[in-house]
Amino acid sequence: MEPLRNGVRFSGVCFRYQSDRPCLEGIDLEASRGTITALVGPTGSGKSTLVTLLLRLFDPDQGSIEIDGRDLRGLQLESLRRNVAIALQENLLFGTTVRENIRMAVPNASDEAVREAARVACADVFIEALPEGYDTLLGERGTKLSTGQRQRISIARAILKDSPILVLDEPTASLDPATEIELLARLSAWGRDRVIFLVTHRLSTIRRADQIVVLADGRVRERGTHDELMGETGGSYRRHLELEDAAAGVAG
Ligand SMILES: Nc1ncnc2c1ncn2[C@@H]1O[C@H](COP(=O)(O)OP(=O)(O)O)[C@@H](O)[C@H]1O
Ligand SMILES: [Mg+2]
Repeated sequence: MEPLRNGVRFSGVCFRYQSDRPCLEGIDLEASRGTITALVGPTGSGKSTLVTLLLRLFDPDQGSIEIDGRDLRGLQLESLRRNVAIALQENLLFGTTVRENIRMAVPNASDEAVREAARVACADVFIEALPEGYDTLLGERGTKLSTGQRQRISIARAILKDSPILVLDEPTASLDPATEIELLARLSAWGRDRVIFLVTHRLSTIRRADQIVVLADGRVRERGTHDELMGETGGSYRRHLELEDAAAGVAG
């Protein structure tokens, strides 16, 4: 796979589903190689739509999305989808072993590569503690995993794809905060020459991202580091965090 040179850029991206209401409007956003971008915003603000545009499930109505200066529309779909790996909040696990579940997108991956992907995804410790480790059968007739464990298997699956662009759309929602922070640290080491987008609600994680993008009603309201955005008194990031904190009953 061709390594990333610069990163991903959204320029003036507008998009609407088959409805009158625009879903994304005038999105300008740059994510450089080696950084983690946290996408923040209320439900329905367009976070998932924004990241799925990277896979070209839809194309923008206006504006462009470029990887290393090349418009996605000029790339072959197959190559584009090799270049972008995505893990969602809900991912299908199959009634086969842990190893085969992680290997799903890369059937010929070595055991070592599988273990390394599991390590980056913070899944290694619990997998090794399973009765038969990586050979443990999952699914209906196999071992039942917790939601957080299943999410980490799906993150490992996405990591094993070894794509220059990794999208995590809330697959960390069921991890405890300490695990999510550890995951971020491992992703950040693994992602030195990649671009990572992370949709998450957890402040302790968001604040560690290299860049935070706050979406509201399909627009970028604010963009910057945690410290920059906290400096904006009355800014939408601050308000968002205050709301999240109130909802979660925790402080950052
Ligand atoms: N497949 C779809 N068809 C029509 N409308 C959609 C579709 N997916 C999402 N939407 C709408 O687009 C808006 C943004 O949704 P989404 O990108 O899922 O936001 P978020 O991930 O921030 O919750 C919402 O109003 C949602 O109802
Ligand atoms: Mg979403």
